[in-house]
Amino acid sequence: MNKFISYVMAMMFLIFANLTFAGETATLKPEAWNKMDIKIVQGDIPEIQAIANQATLPIPQHPYATVDTAALAMWDGGEFWANLVLGSLVGAVVIFTLFTIINGPVKLTKGFSGVKIPRWSKADIIFHWVGAISCLSLIVTGILIACGRFLIADNMGADNWGAFIQNTVSTHNLMSFPFIFGWLIMVVKWANKQFPSQGDLNWFKSLGGYINFGSLKGKHPDAGFANAGEKLWFWCFTLFGGVLVVTGISMMFPALFEFAKGTMNWMLVLHIGSASIIGVFTVVHVFMATIISEGGMEGMVSGYCDENWAKEHHNLWYNDLKKAGKA
Ligand code: HEM
Repeated sequence: MNKFISYVMAMMFLIFANLTFAGETATLKPEAWNKMDIKIVQGDIPEIQAIANQATLPIPQHPYATVDTAALAMWDGGEFWANLVLGSLVGAVVIFTLFTIINGPVKLTKGFSGVKIPRWSKADIIFHWVGAISCLSLIVTGILIACGRFLIADNMGADNWGAFIQNTVSTHNLMSFPFIFGWLIMVVKWANKQFPSQGDLNWFKSLGGYINFGSLKGKHPDAGFANAGEKLWFWCFTLFGGVLVVTGISMMFPALFEFAKGTMNWMLVLHIGSASIIGVFTVVHVFMATIISEGGMEGMVSGYCDENWAKEHHNLWYNDLKKAGKA
C-alpha cells in the first residue's frame, strides 16, 4: 500500500514538474538528459533503459541542476515498471495456457467442408505480417529494455551488457518503422469492417462461443466480418498502437518536437502503459488464432477460409456473401 501511495505521489510530482518546468525543452533523448549517476538520480529513465549505472557509458555533460528530478521521481520504482510489463505478458500467457488446457481448443462442429471462401486479400496478408512480425520483435526487445537490467545484466558483465542493450535499443528503434507502416495501413484499410453493431454485447455474453462446457457450450453468437472480440482488439490496437507510435517517435526524435522534459517523461509512461496493453492483447490474439480457434489461421495465410468456419464464427458475414452470390 505504501508503495502504491508513493507511486501516486510520484504521479502528482510529475504533473507539478510538468507545470514548473514547462519552459525547459528536451533536445536530447530521454536517456541522455539525465546525469548517469545512480546515487544522485536513482531509478530514472536510463535505469529503466538499463544503462544508468554503467561506468563505461558516456556521461552527459548536463549539470545536475538542469535535471528535472521531480519528474524523474516517477521512475524511482524502475523495477516495479519492469515487473508490470513482464508480469502482464507472462500473466496473459499463463492464463491462456490454463484456459486452453481446461477448455481445449474450439473445433468446428461439422469439421472442414473443403469449400474455400475469400476472406483477406494478398495486400491484407502482407500488411498484417509486416505489422505483426515487427510488433512481436518490438515486444521482445521492449521487454529486454525494460527488464533486462533486473533479470540478466548481472550475469553478462558490464561491457557485454552495455553492448547488448545498445544493440537491443537500436533493433527496437529500427523495428518501429515497419510497425508504424503496418499499423497505419491496417487501421486505415480495415476500420470500416470493425464498427460496433447490435449483436456485439450478446457475443461477449456468450464469451464468443469459445467455451466448451456448461450452459455456454456449443453457442455460436452472431457475428459479421469481425466478431466483437476482434473489434475490441482492433480498436485497442488502433488507440494504444497510436499512442505507441506518437510517444515512440517523440522519444526517438526529441529535437524535432522540443517537448518539455516533464512531458517527455510522460511519453515514456504512456509508452510503457500502452505497450503492456498491446502486449496482453497480442498474447490473446495469438492464442486465439493459432491454438484455440480451429480454422482461424487459414485466412491470414492463404487469404481463404473454410465455409464451415465462416458459418460458425461469422454467420452474418457468410449470409451477406451468400445473398451477394459470392459464397
Ligand atoms: C503469431 C502471431 C499472429 C498470428 C498467428 C495472427 C493471426 C491473425 C489471423 C488469423 C487474423 C484473421 C482473423 C480473422 O480472419 O477473423 C488476424 C487478424 C488481425 N491481426 Fe493478427 N496475428 C498475429 C499477430 C498479430 C500482431 C502482433 C498484431 C499487431 C500488430 C496483429 C494484428 C491483427 C489485427 C489488427 C487483425 C484484424 C482484427 C481481427 O480480425 O482480429 N496480429 N491475425
